[in-house]
Amino acid sequence: RTMDLRKIKESEDDFGLLGYDPAFLNTCSCKSTITYIDGDKGILRYRGYPIEQLAEQSSFLETAYLLIKGYLPDKERLAVWTYNIRHHTMTHANLNKFMDGFRYDAHPMGILVGTVGALSTFYPDAKNVGEEESRKLQVRRLIGKMPTLAAMSFRHSLGFPYVLPDNDLSYAGNFLSMMFRMTERSYKPNPVLEHALDVLFILHADHEQNCSTNAVRSVSSSMVDPYSAIAAGCAALYGPLHGGANEAVIHMLRQIGSVDKIPEFIKSVKSGEGRLMGFGHRVYKNYDPRARIIKKIAFDVFEETGRNPLLDIAIELERIALEDDYFIQRKLYPNVDFYSGLIYQAMGFPTEMFPVLFAIGRVPGWLAQWIEHVKDPDQKIARPRQIYLGEECRDYVPLDSRP
Ligand code: ACO
Repeated sequence: RTMDLRKIKESEDDFGLLGYDPAFLNTCSCKSTITYIDGDKGILRYRGYPIEQLAEQSSFLETAYLLIKGYLPDKERLAVWTYNIRHHTMTHANLNKFMDGFRYDAHPMGILVGTVGALSTFYPDAKNVGEEESRKLQVRRLIGKMPTLAAMSFRHSLGFPYVLPDNDLSYAGNFLSMMFRMTERSYKPNPVLEHALDVLFILHADHEQNCSTNAVRSVSSSMVDPYSAIAAGCAALYGPLHGGANEAVIHMLRQIGSVDKIPEFIKSVKSGEGRLMGFGHRVYKNYDPRARIIKKIAFDVFEETGRNPLLDIAIELERIALEDDYFIQRKLYPNVDFYSGLIYQAMGFPTEMFPVLFAIGRVPGWLAQWIEHVKDPDQKIARPRQIYLGEECRDYVPLDSRP
């Protein structure tokens, strides 16, 4: 254990034995019972259930329950859970005014970071992180309000009035209504798109200790309220290396332009001119199981919305890359981002909304990890050490005496 290693000292004034592991490539920061990944075999399970079964048979709210509570609910528990989350879909009128204050061209993800953080000022009871009842309440509030904030951030950018939640609709259906409803008449989401979005939320719901989850855990370790911690998760997700790769895939497919240009593009990737976006993963050295499911959803959605020529480029690009020695040797396969952007685009979401959609799906995972973290007796405030490479001790030189 770390405490023991630190006792290994050569002299009284050294720090003991410390590990140096930038980006935690070889360091586990916690013990967890939430999500299991075997990157070599392409396995992803939430609480032991294979992602394929959840995507096929569960719903996003049920999966959220599973992640947070650790077991699948019976009918009655699921009904109460769903009711409780719907009860919290509205936002305070002053939060709407706060939203109004953002510039017209503010990035929706920046708005989300700000407004999720601002929730902590509306719910000061959330600081009681040690109390189970308080934690349960904040979980319902955050899952309930996330789609509302996300849709508001989109409508703000268009200058359109906000749409109130419609709790007669499903979780995904209500989100689509708050995004795209344009008239007073009630909105009926397309069932194929509504189902596809629900499955996409399931696929994004958790992925163990990724960058944003690590941010949530690290910030939570100070025992701050969950809104501040989840805002940190959103901030991490805002970065192009995390939540922005599916947008980069769309740009890449547009840049390729047509199927006949693919071999030339692959050649440029192999010569180091760029990367094949949506390919490769730090953990998966096999087909990302989420990508397989997403590819199927892409066909269902395009059947409904009409085929986008970029899909044909993506399919051919994948086929060529999977037969190419460069990608085979490096174990580079499509990841979750390869097809998800195409689906979001077909559904009518602008590219800036892609990371926001990711955030809605990831909230139950962040919350499950937050609860596990604050309840874990092994955890303390996150406080890594460093290897100091700066100056030795030196005397301050007054301004007038400096050369
Ligand atoms: N296209 C071409 N070559 C690649 C790609 C790619 N997408 N990914 C890795 N490689 C090559 C590297 O150039 C390197 O080759 P080399 O050994 O000849 O130098 C080798 O494969 C290993 O690459 P690393 O960068 O060491 O792999 P790492 O595990 O650090 O990177 C990452 C993983 C960042 C996802 C990388 O594969 C990548 O940049 N992919 C494209 C961006 C992307 O799709 N990101 C989304 C990830 S999923 C998510 O965040 C939800």
